[in-house]
Amino acid sequence: MRIPQRGQDAEALLATLETYRAKDIDWRSGRTFAYVYDAGREAEAVGKRAYAAFLTENALDPTAFPSLLRLENELVSMGATHLSGGPEAAGNLTTGGTESIILAVKAARDRARALRPEVTRPNMVLPVTAHAAFHKAAWFLGVEPIPVEVDPQTFRAGPDQAKGAIGPDTVLVVGSAPSYAHGVCDDIPGLAALARDRGIPMHVDACVGGWMLPFFRRLGAEVPAFDFSVPGVTSISMDLHKYAFCPKGASLILHRDKSYREHQIFSFSGWTGYTIVNPTVLSTRSGGPMAAAWATLRFIGEDGYERHARALLEATRRIVEGVSGIPGLRVMGRPDFCLVAVASDEVNVFHVVDEMNRRGWYIQAQLGFRGHAANFHLSVHPGVVGRVDEMLGALAECVEIARGLPPTGLSEMVKGAVETLDLASIPPEAFAQLLAVAGIQGTTLPERTAGINEILDALPPPVREGLLRRFFNDLNHIGDEGAP
Ligand SMILES: Cc1ncc(COP(=O)(O)O)c(C=O)c1O
Repeated sequence: MRIPQRGQDAEALLATLETYRAKDIDWRSGRTFAYVYDAGREAEAVGKRAYAAFLTENALDPTAFPSLLRLENELVSMGATHLSGGPEAAGNLTTGGTESIILAVKAARDRARALRPEVTRPNMVLPVTAHAAFHKAAWFLGVEPIPVEVDPQTFRAGPDQAKGAIGPDTVLVVGSAPSYAHGVCDDIPGLAALARDRGIPMHVDACVGGWMLPFFRRLGAEVPAFDFSVPGVTSISMDLHKYAFCPKGASLILHRDKSYREHQIFSFSGWTGYTIVNPTVLSTRSGGPMAAAWATLRFIGEDGYERHARALLEATRRIVEGVSGIPGLRVMGRPDFCLVAVASDEVNVFHVVDEMNRRGWYIQAQLGFRGHAANFHLSVHPGVVGRVDEMLGALAECVEIARGLPPTGLSEMVKGAVETLDLASIPPEAFAQLLAVAGIQGTTLPERTAGINEILDALPPPVREGLLRRFFNDLNHIGDEGAP
């Protein structure tokens, strides 16, 4: 595709853009239990106006745009205060949880480089339930991830699991509050005490729950300690674009004090251009997400978040009870947050996901891992609380339909095939064959995704990853979509 020879009419272009959304999930319908955290039209409108107003300002140079420095400092102050940080706390606004986590790992690695030069092969100790973003950070930064198991009933990690994994090269201990997959908080005080005893920084990934958990606690929910009030917690990631309902592109990386944040900052003058000082991964940073997050937090306010928290707690309680009452389903662990993972010993959960999707309900498949069962995940947010009973009705129906579907035999077939493969050198044709078995030709996904999920579930993670890399490498292509 080329840009048009003559510039086109703005209204017509915006109308065309709208048509591009035709196949997107309809998240405004209240049936989407992932990806979108919807606090209603009013909050959305305020966020969008503020976003547009500061879209063009550039936080690359805070001396040129003091407005953005002020916005960022105020956001960090609101976030740190919310998480019991003292006046010495420091932090930055990032584009999302992944960036905040990359920065936490970078700061820990470079702190060790500065203070513990004997560490030449840095590693970090993290529960198997920690978000994949830590593995991405490890991959970018050359830090070895040392995964530790969680309790198989509660999905919680604590010092008993972590202590054997910490060694002389450990530069960071990680815990989640809560984990995305099961909505469970690790034993943060236990992990932090262990890290502190060994003189190692401890990062709490509160990306998904950090903002809302203190409101749950105020309403009487049992929320384990997870923030800077816990001695030994040295950094926290907390996304504003999840349960603080701010427009996307807003997360906070917070440090107990500047001595930890110092190692996050990149500064460079060894080239012919302007001297660079970047506290975050990006250099040019739009003021849009900053202004939007600032405005949204203040528009909703403490009373607004408390109202949302009450509704979320009630909806999650109904979902946990409702799911437990559906024959064949079980909630995994006891969620500390409004995230629920559901497994089954009787029906194929991937068929349940497909049946729900066919009826317009978006729920997320999660593959089995290290003996933890495959399941589906529900993120409960204000946009769905009004439709919980309806969703539970649909779920009961879909489970019965899934029960009646004949077994595909795909997982046995794949397991058999994989046993004979040399995983280190799988030829591209083998991936193409696996995709074809799941009904995937080229990049067109079949209407039902249970086949591909069953195959992925049966494969060891490195093979799953290779298959998906290949699929996505083809998905992003510049074929002819038909000019608008
Ligand atoms: C606990 C947790 N950490 C990190 C992330 C990564 O956040 P992002 O998708 O904003 O990069 C997520 C996303 O769901 C999360 O739930």
